[in-house]
Amino acid sequence: MKDLITRLDPKLQHLLARAAALAADVGATLWLVGGVVRDLWLELPIGRDIDLAVEGDINQLIVPLADAWDGTITARHPAFGTATITVGHWVIDLAQTRTERYPKPAILPEVQPAPLTKDLYRRDFSINAMAVQIIADGDQLLSAPLIDPLGGVADLTARRLRLLHDQSLRDDPTRLLRGVRLAARLQLTPDAATAAQIADALEAGYLALLSPERIQTELCLTLEEPDPAAVIALADQWGLTPHVIPGLHWTPALAERLSRYRQDTSEISRLAPDGLVIAGLVLYDLSDDALTQVLHRYHLPAPARNLIQDLIALRPHIATIAAATSPSAIDTLLQPYSIAAIAVLHYATETSIQQVVSRYLHEWRPLRPPLNGDDLRHLGVPTGPQIGQLLRRLRAATLDGLITDRTTAEQWVRRHLVDS
Ligand code: CTP
Repeated sequence: MKDLITRLDPKLQHLLARAAALAADVGATLWLVGGVVRDLWLELPIGRDIDLAVEGDINQLIVPLADAWDGTITARHPAFGTATITVGHWVIDLAQTRTERYPKPAILPEVQPAPLTKDLYRRDFSINAMAVQIIADGDQLLSAPLIDPLGGVADLTARRLRLLHDQSLRDDPTRLLRGVRLAARLQLTPDAATAAQIADALEAGYLALLSPERIQTELCLTLEEPDPAAVIALADQWGLTPHVIPGLHWTPALAERLSRYRQDTSEISRLAPDGLVIAGLVLYDLSDDALTQVLHRYHLPAPARNLIQDLIALRPHIATIAAATSPSAIDTLLQPYSIAAIAVLHYATETSIQQVVSRYLHEWRPLRPPLNGDDLRHLGVPTGPQIGQLLRRLRAATLDGLITDRTTAEQWVRRHLVDS
């Protein structure tokens, strides 16, 4: 029997020991549940999200627990018997043990308090339906046996993904997206019944019943996976991708560019947020129509919207970028676009363009001409639009090596003033 609890961070163990004492005071029992139990068993690192199930009246526990932990209640849904308390680094989700009833597919369930075993059964996959009781002696968290009524350990050992009941994907189609993430991350294979349920759910079109926001949340979680490429490859294999991003296919070219990005340690790989660049690389081969559909379907945050719009605008110019003969010409072409879009271009295109884009990002984009607007005024340029125009031309001349320092810049401005 593995001692799971002692693998937890000592500070978290301390918090849980306090929680056990408070739960006992109100006659409730606390259980560690969900992905943390699975990951403890697998001896994987434990993240900041901790799920606790409360068998008993959760409402008597939330405020005393937040006080005892010196934490903040960041969410509370009395109708669902759930709350979130943030304590330092940890985000601790508490939920009353319950059964769920889904009156219609893909909507939020009606919940009823129920014992732990029923709560475990209403969950998505066997490997996520295990629990460990939180019991303590004073400040000391005590080890407790793994509660695994649905065969989670056997499935983990066999690397098997198994849904717990036949209505699971109809009730909550996000489980298709959760399943593919989990299967890719932990290298699991659906058992025959689960594979059949996945195929049936896709054929029934259950994903289309979800709100775009719920799908989007799952897509963002995919981008945060240790290996998003593996998730996309598997999603394509399962036939999921046309339901979430029509036109998206796993191809050798996509695999190649994601691995190029993953292996790159240059400064370019750190210029834009990881998830944004990966999203851009994944979407890069989609047609303009398919990209526009993504923009219409999802309410993407501004950086992601801008990235997609930039890709639509930028892709037709690739041949021009390859043919451009001066740094200033490339600067003029690329300057209007976001760094993320240009980084995507860097990893998505062939070597000759990559080299140009790399020089643009490293040398040309950060370059500032030796004179600024104030300097131009001191040299006699009248205040007004001419300053901006001249600064742009000064920058272009600096990029092309016609201006090398302050002196050549001042000479250039004076010459320009005489000519104009
Ligand atoms: N759960 C479920 N059905 C869902 C979402 C969650 O049954 N649609 C249950 C599972 O038991 C899951 C737990 O709620 O393990 C916690 O969900 P969540 O925190 O979203 O994911 P984890 O499984 O903890 O793990 P990870 O973040 O590693 O994917």
